[in-house]
Order: sequence, then structure tokens, then C-alpha cells
Amino acid sequence: MRILVLGSGAREHAIITALLRERGADGAPAHAITAAPGNAGIAEVVETVALDPTRGDVVADYAVDNDVQLVVIGPEAPLVAGVADAVRRRGIPVFGPGAAAAQLEGSKTFAKRIMDDAGVPTGRAVRAGTYAEVEAALDELGSPYVVKADGLAAGTGVIVTSDRTAALSHAEHYLQQGGVLVEEFLDGQEVSLFLLSDGHSVVPLSPAQDYKRALDGDAGPNTGGMGAYSPLPWAPEGFVDEVIRTVAEPTVRQLENEGTPFIGLLYCGLIVTERGIRVIEFNARFGDPETQVVLPRLVTPLSELLLAASTGQLGGRPHPQFSDDVAVTVVLASEGYPTSSAPNRPLTGLAEAAAVDGVHLCHAATAHTDEGFVATGGRVLSVVATGADFAEARSRAYEAIARIGLEGGQYRSDIAARVVS
Ligand code: AMP
Ligand code: GLY
Repeated sequence: MRILVLGSGAREHAIITALLRERGADGAPAHAITAAPGNAGIAEVVETVALDPTRGDVVADYAVDNDVQLVVIGPEAPLVAGVADAVRRRGIPVFGPGAAAAQLEGSKTFAKRIMDDAGVPTGRAVRAGTYAEVEAALDELGSPYVVKADGLAAGTGVIVTSDRTAALSHAEHYLQQGGVLVEEFLDGQEVSLFLLSDGHSVVPLSPAQDYKRALDGDAGPNTGGMGAYSPLPWAPEGFVDEVIRTVAEPTVRQLENEGTPFIGLLYCGLIVTERGIRVIEFNARFGDPETQVVLPRLVTPLSELLLAASTGQLGGRPHPQFSDDVAVTVVLASEGYPTSSAPNRPLTGLAEAAAVDGVHLCHAATAHTDEGFVATGGRVLSVVATGADFAEARSRAYEAIARIGLEGGQYRSDIAARVVS
């Protein structure tokens, strides 16, 4: 199949890596893949094209002109900008919701309204548009305080704190950008569960856990995600089926009934509380870094699933198969992430890291220069390791990341530590 993947992060590198694992009878890759715009790591394995992934007209023209058979949209920005709508209008299958359904991620107020109407369990929340409303909501819902930017904020729009002054100053910043939601604090383990949706039926992938805080022991600010592992040995019996029944199906049904079907990846961000499963957020796309640990374990060809979802053919499909291996990913970030940015710096030892058994790299913010790779942004790359158990996958990931040189580079040392028995 001729597949166009939009995006430039480690998530897109992981999606492309999974698609490249699919082989034809001659052993050659089964698909012709192009990434737009991709990144330096992606450019080592597939063709890249420098087009703006948030421009629906540009992407649709490219897809038509190049006989693309499937467009896979990685990040949220093109979804919210309506790129899926533009491509779908031209009759090309697209994995990714249109702008209306992408509001599930783009607006926390919209997501809460859908959940309320669909009867999906989530934390109690109050929308605040003024400072006084924030103060009243903080007092009503109590400490620890949870304040969320209403719109897209690249993983850093949420603060969870018992410091009322910090909660207020976070809110003040986002009030100028369209308002905030103050939410009830939910206590428990967090789970990311991805479900493919064709607008009507859903099919689950394997659950993962993301480490959102910057520092070991879940200290420091929220980030886009510093590491992840999958599967979850501690997940309650029947967990995935319960999420399908109480969260994913009602949500997808609600959007279908409103005439804005959700076609793509429904990312359910959940907390398993003592009172049951609660949704803390929806995203309208694969998670980063969770994708890096879910897709290496997927045995069912990814392209089949993405195409079936994009063409209304998920109904009646068996759940995808996953290998018995486990996977761990550790994110290497630049100095200062997520609060400040560092200049471009040399990145060494990538080949040595990838040479560790069971390890591969997914690039995010890297560039290729005459002197080799440099790190160009916050989250630089993900080191991904698979293994027979978490002890093995974890030691492989950390052996590999120790081989990478980046001045000021930082990573968490406790990813998946809790599941090593
Ligand atoms: P979100 O962007 O909504 O996923 O929030 C980012 C992170 O903040 C989550 O991964 C949680 O760790 C935390 N968080 C969000 N909402 C809540 C909540 N209601 N209670 C406790 N922690 C939360
Ligand atoms: N890892 C969190 C996200 O992708 O939003």
C-alpha cells in the first residue's frame, strides 16, 4: 500500500517502524511509505517530503497527485485543523478524526460535555473563565488542586498541586488563552488505552503506562511523557473490556449520533480509582511515548487495522494479537525540558545504543549535520527495548541510553521499575 504518515515525532517513527515490519513474499517492505515532514531518524528509513502537515489543501493535493492509498495522521494539530476532513473529501482513506470529533482532544469542555451526555465516568469539573471563578472552583473541589488548560497545550497544560498559589498562577496563564477547567483530584494508577475506531465499532490495543512527570519518583513538572511500558501486569481482571463498554463505545456512539463520527485512534487516559475507572483525558491520536511500547508488541499487521478503521470495517474483527514480549521506552530530553530550551548539541553513540539486543531508537527532535546527529528540541528521542520480562527490557533500555552522549541530556531512571518483581 502507498501510505502517507503526517508528523515528525518519535510516535510517527514508531508507527513507521511497525509498518516497515510488514513484509511481502519477497521479504521486501510491503508498503511504500512517505513521511511529511518526518525527522532525521525517519529519513534514514523512508522517503520524507517537506510539506506542512497542518495544511489540509496541501496534504490532500499531495495525496491525490501521488496515488496515496492511506493517510495516517500522527499529531493533534492537523486533526484539529481539519486535515482529515480535507483528505476524506477527496475520497482517500484517512486514519484520524475530522475537526469536529478531534475536539474531544482540542477542547476539554467539549470532552466533558460528550462524557456527560454519554454517561462516561470522569472527574467532576468546573469551567472557569475568570480569576474569581477559578478561586471559587478551587475552594469547591478542594486540594490537591487540578487545573487544566481548556485547549491544546502539548502535554503541559495541567497542574496538580496542593499549593493554591501555584494553582492560581497556572490558571491565570491559561485564562488569557480561552479558559481553564478545575477538576476533582483522582487518586490511583494511570493507564493509557488506545482504541481504533471506524466511527461505529472499536477495537482495543494493549494498555500502557506513561510517566508524565519530568523527574524520578513522579516529581517535577508535567511533560509530554518521559517513558512508558506495556503491558500492565497489575491491570485489573477484565480491564480492557470494561473500558470498551463504559468509556469507548458510549463515546464513539455519542459522536456518531451527533453526526461527527470519530474515525481514528481514541486515546483513553484513565485513572483506576478505588471507586472505579475514571477518564482524565481523551486524545484523538496515538500517544507519545506509549505508541513506542505498544506497537513493537503488535503481531496483527498495523496497516490492516488502520485501513479497516479508515474504511468503516472494524465491526466484527477479533481483537488484535500481541506478542508475549514486554516493552519499555525511556525518553532522552534536552537540558531544561520542559521549562526551558537548550541550544542544538551533538548527539553521539546512537549506533552503539541501537546495537544493544532488543533495542531500537525512535527519533523526535534530531537533525543530521556534517558532523553527525544533533539534538534540536525538548524530547530528543525514545530508546525502546523489548524483552521476555520487564527486568530484561528495562536493563536493555538503560544500557542503550547510557551509550548515548548529549551534554545536559536528561532521562528518568525509574521507568518500569515498579513492574520489575
Ligand atoms: P491530562 O493532560 O489531562 O492527561 O493531565 C496530565 C496529567 O495530570 C495526567 O497524566 C495526570 O497525571 C494528571 N491529572 C490530570 N487530571 C487529574 C486528576 N483529575 N486527578 C489527578 N491527576 C490528574
Ligand atoms: N503521552 C501522553 C500523550 O501522548 O498525550
